[in-house]
Amino acid sequence: MIITFGTQKGGVGKTTLAIAFANYISGVSKRKIRVFDFDYQKSFYKKWKEDELSDLPKLYEVEIAGEQGQLFSDFEHLIDLKQSNDIHIFDLAGTLDEKYSDLLIYSDLIIIPFEYSNVSVKSTLVFKNILGMLESEAERVFIRSRYDKGYGYLNQREMDAEISKYGMLVESPVFKRNSLQTIDTRQLTYYQKDAVQKPFNEIIEYIKTALKITL
Ligand SMILES: Nc1ncnc2c1ncn2[C@@H]1O[C@H](COP(=O)(O)OP(=O)(O)O)[C@@H](O)[C@H]1O
Ligand SMILES: [Mg+2]
Repeated sequence: MIITFGTQKGGVGKTTLAIAFANYISGVSKRKIRVFDFDYQKSFYKKWKEDELSDLPKLYEVEIAGEQGQLFSDFEHLIDLKQSNDIHIFDLAGTLDEKYSDLLIYSDLIIIPFEYSNVSVKSTLVFKNILGMLESEAERVFIRSRYDKGYGYLNQREMDAEISKYGMLVESPVFKRNSLQTIDTRQLTYYQKDAVQKPFNEIIEYIKTALKITL
């Protein structure tokens, strides 16, 4: 299967959540996990490389998408990844590029982090429109990222109502936590796990019901 972390808004938590999700999934699923960094900034890949100094065991391999002749604009290759029992996680850049088109169309699931700001919600809706124009067959999951518990967000309810029309809105937010600023690719610390496990369990449950895939 293919799970993609995407939205053209930068700095919204795609890479952080992709790392946390890959780590979390490797603890709850027996399936092989393969990560593809499709961002030219290669933040996931660089982190994973840095973590080679760690004493902890490696949880998964990370490849730079588009290198070594892997063409993710290659429809047949994507279908192979989709049909495989392995879990393929893609982390995208905060820009829209034609090279993402087929991936956005054929992902099983697209996880779209957003924050409660007008800019973030607007660009989330632009992204959803792009998925619509591409006639993407992916299930869409919207997740509140860097959610500040003590903060009263203006228009949160209206934004939730709008976003819920276009996919599953994960009920539990990913809280704004210092612990998530220093994430590595080999483990989730107690505090990191605490910050993500509820929303991730909701996503896993959704994959089971909407996609009929047990991870
Ligand atoms: N839940 C969170 N709490 C605190 N900081 C976060 C959280 N999620 C992301 N960040 C920080 O926000 C910045 C942008 O996150 P990143 O995952 O790189 O976003 P993107 O991949 O969408 O550009 C990073 O400095 C990261 O450490
Ligand atoms: Mg990123």
